[in-house]
Amino acid sequence: MDRTTTVPATTAATDPTAAPALMRAISQDAAGGPEVLTLVETPRPSPGPGEILVRVHAAGVNPADWKTRARGVFAVGATPPFTLGFDVAGVVEEAGAGVTLFRVGDAVYGMPRFPHPAGAYAEYVTAPARHFAPRPRGLTHIQAGALPLAALTAWQALVDTADVRPGQRVLVHAAAGGVGHLAVQIAKARGAYVIGTAGVAKHGLLRSLGVDEVIDYRTEDFVETLRDAAVDVVVDPLGGPSPARSLRTLRPGGTLVSLLPPDDAFPAREAEAAGVRAVFMLVEPDHAGLREITSLVEDGRLRVIADEVFPLEEAARAHRLGETGRTTGKIVLSVVGTASSS
Ligand SMILES: NC(=O)c1ccc[n+]([C@@H]2O[C@H](COP(=O)([O-])OP(=O)(O)OC[C@H]3O[C@@H](n4cnc5c(N)ncnc54)[C@H](OP(=O)(O)O)[C@@H]3O)[C@@H](O)[C@H]2O)c1
Repeated sequence: MDRTTTVPATTAATDPTAAPALMRAISQDAAGGPEVLTLVETPRPSPGPGEILVRVHAAGVNPADWKTRARGVFAVGATPPFTLGFDVAGVVEEAGAGVTLFRVGDAVYGMPRFPHPAGAYAEYVTAPARHFAPRPRGLTHIQAGALPLAALTAWQALVDTADVRPGQRVLVHAAAGGVGHLAVQIAKARGAYVIGTAGVAKHGLLRSLGVDEVIDYRTEDFVETLRDAAVDVVVDPLGGPSPARSLRTLRPGGTLVSLLPPDDAFPAREAEAAGVRAVFMLVEPDHAGLREITSLVEDGRLRVIADEVFPLEEAARAHRLGETGRTTGKIVLSVVGTASSS
């Protein structure tokens, strides 16, 4: 059974001499399965200079979260106890000294501090103001909470790293996943011809997102299918044997962007021999990138799929679902209100 304790919601403190206000958060004091996620009351943070305090309405759930939960360490920094979560959508509650980007009451979204702990599975988060951007017009908090980490990953892989150009051929693996469903749309928005791999049940969705060619990875060998495709860019969120196999679809001079840290199977030497670039990319907080993503959303060229929404206290259920590796789009925790609202 999950070690979750139901605790009452807190209200924001207004008296600076009062004891620190408490907030609800999901914490873990050991590495392990989803059952280590516990609902606790903890002091609400205060923004330092250059930081904002955000009342969190929604927090995206990412593979980085359940990997961190299971290993007990963040990529950089804290060991348990800690609060998971990197994706934040919410409203600015306080602005620290020197903040000019936002005012109290602004709706914002962002992926603050990554890969350092951000603590988004909580009612409040403090982080540098520049790690956020205004929430795209027309999006709910839930939709905005689904975007930052996955969309920034897709943007930084396709645009900053691979410099995708109109007419280029882009292969996106796991194209219906959190990163993938955004990557295919960003590649389309850059004018690329987009090929996506996914199980056949998700091909209709991928077509509706503009994917030009879909490959059922369960019944088709993408290397065979794309033997003469001369792909320009591959985005690979799969790792293992996939980067080495994907390399065989690239034209000389093409780029493979792997989203998993290189292991023994990473084809560094093969890439050099084939005259292609093969790199591992780690997403970074990125105010300018978020603004580009906002533009795409507001122009109707980027649609985020928040497929499953759980209340904060059901973070363990959200992790169990995510760890199946079979989800479509994103999983989001609703921190304010019910799972279906805002
Ligand atoms: N380096 C970075 O900065 C960075 C940033 C973000 C994410 N990542 C990493 O990238 C990976 C993907 O993240 P995500 O959020 O997109 O994950 P996700 O949403 O959990 O991915 C789920 C999707 O993967 C698909 N899938 C699974 N195996 C597949 C295969 N062999 N071929 C094609 N599709 C397959 C599933 O489709 P089916 O149901 O059809 O199988 C499902 O739609 C994670 O390992 C994550 O840690 C790295």
